[in-house]
Amino acid sequence: MIRSVVRGNGAALPRRIMKNADFEGMVETSDEWIVQRTGIRQRHVAADDETTASLGEAAARAALDSAGMTPADIDLIILATSTPNNTFPATAVEIQNRLGMHHGFAFDMQAVCSGFVYAVATADLYIRGGLAKRVLVIGSETFSRILDWSDRSTCVLFGDGAGALVLEAEEGAGAITDRGVLAASLRSDGVHKDKLFVDGGPSTTGTVGHLRMEGREVFKHAVGMITDVIEATFGQAGITAEDLDWFVPHQANKRIIDASAKKLGIAEEKVVVTVDLHGNTSAASVPLALSVAVADGRIKKGDLVLLEAMGGGFTWGAVLLRW
Ligand SMILES: CC(C)(COP(=O)(O)OP(=O)(O)OC[C@H]1O[C@@H](n2cnc3c(N)ncnc32)[C@H](O)[C@@H]1OP(=O)(O)O)[C@@H](O)C(=O)NCCC(=O)NCCS
Repeated sequence: MIRSVVRGNGAALPRRIMKNADFEGMVETSDEWIVQRTGIRQRHVAADDETTASLGEAAARAALDSAGMTPADIDLIILATSTPNNTFPATAVEIQNRLGMHHGFAFDMQAVCSGFVYAVATADLYIRGGLAKRVLVIGSETFSRILDWSDRSTCVLFGDGAGALVLEAEEGAGAITDRGVLAASLRSDGVHKDKLFVDGGPSTTGTVGHLRMEGREVFKHAVGMITDVIEATFGQAGITAEDLDWFVPHQANKRIIDASAKKLGIAEEKVVVTVDLHGNTSAASVPLALSVAVADGRIKKGDLVLLEAMGGGFTWGAVLLRW
């Protein structure tokens, strides 16, 4: 059986760091409120010359380096983003060009904060279906461009950044001990559309729009949705929370992460938390968290890793893989 195995990973962050205290003169908020409600301490904010394409390219180059590959080795790029450089063409194609890659194909995937989990599951299907052998999966976002900087209930929560993985086809035994993607479960339900959305778009207002969110409503649904989809993934793979080495959740809010891990019975020391460093970087949050836990030596070859995300739509999903 063909498995999609991680060969390398990378990340890129804008130069500028914005601390919670930097908001204190802009909106009525405090470092204490932000830390207590969300766990966020700082986020990176893109300068004019830093875009979803440039950050995505930098993360892709880092992932290729760590895989010991060049763009010539890649046949597909999937970019998860909700903040593309242009309405079209796909920013994935722009990254393809920046990498000097003129073969293969590239496309964007839009599932908001769940984008990276959707993209890994999709890359796995392309690999197992024989349409690609080596796939660059990127999550890159510049949410700072779509924030309403006068709305304290949203502007303090998000940040910019990018992360990437290189996946490659490898023959596996079809067992849970195989390396690569082992199980995935994806969901969406548009009934929740108005709880987290951007109030603009090409076909409606003709503007880019700003992010709007009913934070309390999102919070209310998050833990149940996350734990349902993870239990479905555990069921597919025939494992329990105790078998996991690492839980790498979407980094939106520390309270949601803690409550989900607790409900699932995942030990605190197995949970990778980077929301304090990056804020919510939407589709970039899971690969950025992976990059931190790989760089500090926590995630190692052979470890069983659970990725999870939930976002606007709502969309939600989980991927289980052996690193
Ligand atoms: C946004 C969130 C942190 C707010 O925390 P909360 O405990 O639910 O707070 P509430 O929304 O109940 O607001 C409590 C009060 O804090 C205020 N408040 C909101 N943002 C604030 C800020 N940055 N600083 C200070 N006060 C703030 C609210 O106006 C409200 O005041 P009121 O009681 O006078 O109306 C929380 O709801 C959350 O994290 N939701 C999920 C968001 C998320 O993860 N989204 C992304 C999913 S991909």
